[in-house]
Amino acid sequence: MHSTSAFTSSVRVGDAREVLESVAADGMEGKVRLIYADPPFNTGDTRIGPYADRRTVDDWQDLLTGVISKCHALLRTDGSLWLHINDRQIALARSVCDDVFGQHNYCGTIAWERTRNPSFLHRQLASTLDYILVYGRSIEALQPFTSTVTETNKRIPMAHRGNRNADLTFPPGSVRFNCNDGRYEAGDHSTAGIDAWLLDSVDVVESRNLTEFRFRLPSRYSPLRFKQLLEDGADFVIPKVPFRPSYINPGGTPKLVRSLWTWQTDPTIPTNEDAYREQQEQFEKPFRYAKPTALLRRIIEITTEPGDLVLDPFAGSGTTAVAAIQTGRRYLVIEEQEPLVNSYIHPRIRRAIAETVNSA
Ligand SMILES: C[S@@+](CC[C@H](N)C(=O)[O-])C[C@H]1O[C@@H](n2cnc3c(N)ncnc32)[C@H](O)[C@@H]1O
Repeated sequence: MHSTSAFTSSVRVGDAREVLESVAADGMEGKVRLIYADPPFNTGDTRIGPYADRRTVDDWQDLLTGVISKCHALLRTDGSLWLHINDRQIALARSVCDDVFGQHNYCGTIAWERTRNPSFLHRQLASTLDYILVYGRSIEALQPFTSTVTETNKRIPMAHRGNRNADLTFPPGSVRFNCNDGRYEAGDHSTAGIDAWLLDSVDVVESRNLTEFRFRLPSRYSPLRFKQLLEDGADFVIPKVPFRPSYINPGGTPKLVRSLWTWQTDPTIPTNEDAYREQQEQFEKPFRYAKPTALLRRIIEITTEPGDLVLDPFAGSGTTAVAAIQTGRRYLVIEEQEPLVNSYIHPRIRRAIAETVNSA
């Protein structure tokens, strides 16, 4: 691994602090677009899983500081860190990240509803949230995080009950009429709750107004905003008599990603139950701490472009590598437990590559 252009994806075994140091020495500083880090949460659990998740507070903080500061050096100026953490460790994790990245580069925190079934072990509060802290290497160089686009050609009624009346002037050709061609005389177009007046007679030819006309209604848009819409070439529609003009919003613009991710309002948001199901499909003994691949795909698609390099210093069962393969990104994942690398990461990567090749 000598130059980024030559860098192909890789899985490294070892303590992330040491591996990251050697990776930096190999010329990888400033080359990584996204870091997703999902450290052990220091739950105190010593009974289950492949590793004992119990450290002193100082040890845990040292681990996080060591890994996060070494990660920071590898990020591109337009790169970001997404640190997955639970509610108990969030305060410490924020203070570590603020120290390493600077508070100025903090973008926000995603609240992810990790489960559909809160544990019966909770005594006071059924805690269902994990958090993902987001930092930019340099917030000025970071693109806004966008995902879906706004609805296209949405019809927005111009009359809004209770608003102040405005006399809007529609220039010739600016309105599409879905009613018959012909002359519509000036007059009252009010209905219950909405006062509306056609102030000038209008001739409609081939479904467009041949002449300019004024229409009075309790307008959603101020006369200034309406003028701006006209200047931008906005399209309006009147479906029938009584006239109720609507503005056709072209939409299709990217929307900023919101910080609440929950299956309750968006069924495409996965939960840990999905992650467990994925593991069960492939392994007799599922890795219990895996995150859902769809969660990683979502983060990768928000933050990177195809071909970019994604780093995960706490790889676990290799979910980040799988999501990177599925989305056409390169990956560098690090895991200190060799049995996890052999039993989960490599088999999952082989399967993801095979599925990608088959679907091509
Ligand atoms: C919560 S799990 C990550 C799960 C992963 N996101 C997934 O979807 O499978 C945390 C992982 O970090 C690993 N780990 C802990 N300390 C580490 C270190 N110093 N260097 C590298 N990996 C470490 C643990 O062995 C464990 O597999």
